[in-house]
Amino acid sequence: MPRYTLKVNGQARTVDVPADTPLLWVLRDNLELVGTKYGCGIGQCGACMVHLNGVPMRSCQAPVSTVAGLAITTIEGLDPTGAHPLQKAWCDHDVPQCGYCQAGQIMTAAALLRNNPNPTDGEIDDAMAGNLCRCGTYLRIRAAIKDAAGTMKGAAQ
Ligand code: FES
Ligand code: FES
Repeated sequence: MPRYTLKVNGQARTVDVPADTPLLWVLRDNLELVGTKYGCGIGQCGACMVHLNGVPMRSCQAPVSTVAGLAITTIEGLDPTGAHPLQKAWCDHDVPQCGYCQAGQIMTAAALLRNNPNPTDGEIDDAMAGNLCRCGTYLRIRAAIKDAAGTMKGAAQ
């Protein structure tokens, strides 16, 4: 079985898995990083979103053989203390309902704010359109993203 060394949340992690194993399963089953969720497995829901070199990517659609050498960030690595402004805003706005989709939502939102620190409602909706929430928390997600954007802007001044 091929061996891959992955850079996950700043650490080198080695796994022995078939080349076509989705990164999602490597994270969850081999590395026990279960914050990244399995929703649909076919690239439709966004529950499995991680960052590859800072770009949001559905980990169910990324074979492990394609991600060796890239910086992989999961929800566990978004902030060393779990206190990223988005995570705090998510708590302040009581965003999650069942919670299943929320790690993916936060990872997509984090990538959005890195590229666009002051998004409009429309830009938020566009950026988040690939992340589905069966509980319908979309309005709270949008409010939390705007709140976090304000916090991050204040911290940068
Ligand atoms: S589990 Fe990857 S997009 Fe749904
Ligand atoms: S909070 Fe339940 S699916 Fe989004």
